[in-house]
Amino acid sequence: MKQNGQAVDVVIMAAGKGTRMKSRLPKVLHRLAGRALLQHVVDTAVGLNARRVVVITGHGAAEVEAGVVHPGGGMLQFVRQEPQLGTGHAVQQAVPALPDDGTVVVLSGDVPLTQAETLGALIAACGGDKLALLTIEFPDPTGYGRIVRDTAGAVQAIVEHKDASEAQRQIREVYSGIMAVPARLLKPWLGRLDNQNAQGEYYLTDVVKFAVEQGVPVVGHKIVDALQVAGVNSPVQLAELERAYQQRAARSLMEQGVRLADPARFDVRGELLCGQDVEIDINCVFAGHVELGEGVRIGAHCSISNASIGPGVVIHPYTHIEGGVSARDRIEVGAGALIGPYARLRPGAKLGDDVHIGNFVEIKAATLAQGAKANHLAYIGDSQVGARVNYGAGSITANYDGANKHTTVIGEDVHIGSNCVLIAPVTIGAGGTVGGGSTITKDTAPGALTVARAKQVSLSNWQRPQKNKK
Ligand code: UD1
Ligand code: MG
Repeated sequence: MKQNGQAVDVVIMAAGKGTRMKSRLPKVLHRLAGRALLQHVVDTAVGLNARRVVVITGHGAAEVEAGVVHPGGGMLQFVRQEPQLGTGHAVQQAVPALPDDGTVVVLSGDVPLTQAETLGALIAACGGDKLALLTIEFPDPTGYGRIVRDTAGAVQAIVEHKDASEAQRQIREVYSGIMAVPARLLKPWLGRLDNQNAQGEYYLTDVVKFAVEQGVPVVGHKIVDALQVAGVNSPVQLAELERAYQQRAARSLMEQGVRLADPARFDVRGELLCGQDVEIDINCVFAGHVELGEGVRIGAHCSISNASIGPGVVIHPYTHIEGGVSARDRIEVGAGALIGPYARLRPGAKLGDDVHIGNFVEIKAATLAQGAKANHLAYIGDSQVGARVNYGAGSITANYDGANKHTTVIGEDVHIGSNCVLIAPVTIGAGGTVGGGSTITKDTAPGALTVARAKQVSLSNWQRPQKNKK
């Protein structure tokens, strides 16, 4: 809850329109690495052990409020700003939600990659009695608020680009949009803001003037990593930040020993945990929570979400592994299994060790025990498949009767021939064999050969019909 002895309350400004996104979706709900921009900021605030997180919403407020996953504990609340009269006006709306004894950290919902350690350092610079501004030097500071310092280097003011003199515009140190300030100082300053400026807005940045007047020290905490203060205003900037995020994720995995064929063609939209000697070919996308065991090899163009892949598994190219978040829907693949190419594992696929799933095979909500194989063109859904079962090409479980799903149970060591239809609910007894082309509607006994198709008939000396002569 406390950073350096101060309780931290975070205000996230997210009421702005985001016109340059040219989208119906509110800007802060656009996704970076699989998470809404605002979610990144909320998660960072949570990582800071914030006591309260107050999100200011306005444009698309209802949608924004519904689009955020709550961290729990009731720490997150939304306050609406109608109309939007500037950043100072935005923070004014949060005042009733901010206890007097805390340090307020102001963040923006469209600046997703600020690190908790950076904010921790800013809070430390605030120290419970100063105004701390996160600043950065830009080669081209156009558009940003400039940090104006006196000859001794003390911060005097933030002057917005549109209000700045030609001399002030030469200043390359800018305000990042992030500050930390004790609530007891901030609140009266917010009450004194006016909108007598080039944009006719209530500028939060004017609080610097009041601090200076009152003799409250203003600390500029300067960082060099531009990514941490980069905002998203357009699809181009969103894509740039996405690449930067992915490059960092790729680098960090490679530093752990993961071998990526090309870090520029790699995407993780969630959490990816890898054992030793994992190899990942180009253009793979990982989403949700994915774990890859030791020695896993993943071919090109695979898409993998919410899955635990056991050691030594080989996933051939173009495989789709689409697990869900719940334990039931999560996908598990046992050690030494071979999957793909072109395989599709859907929610609830649980594969034992050494299972083989080949091309154009779809598995959904089904358990396949150790050594079971379905190598070609098959569908297995809502099923329990025993160890060492061999499931022939083109065979399917007919699990859906048009209203309900039913279960297929295949005992161990069963051989299902090619092109069979197993009409669920049905059980194939252990060790049994089903002849190719069979449509199975009744349970079969263990060890039995079952053939359920029209008997073959041959007519000898049969004359094919001839064309009529004119
Ligand atoms: C602001 C700073 C500027 C700084 C820059 C860094 C002010 C006056 N200026 O300018 O010094 O260099 O950020 O990016 O603060 N918002 C609301 N309600 C409003 C207005 C804005 O919630 O009424 C939100 C926006 O959605 C956005 C954030 O506040 O998330 C910043 O607003 P924006 O208009 O981008 O401020 P800048 O003009 O960039
Ligand atoms: Mg901005």
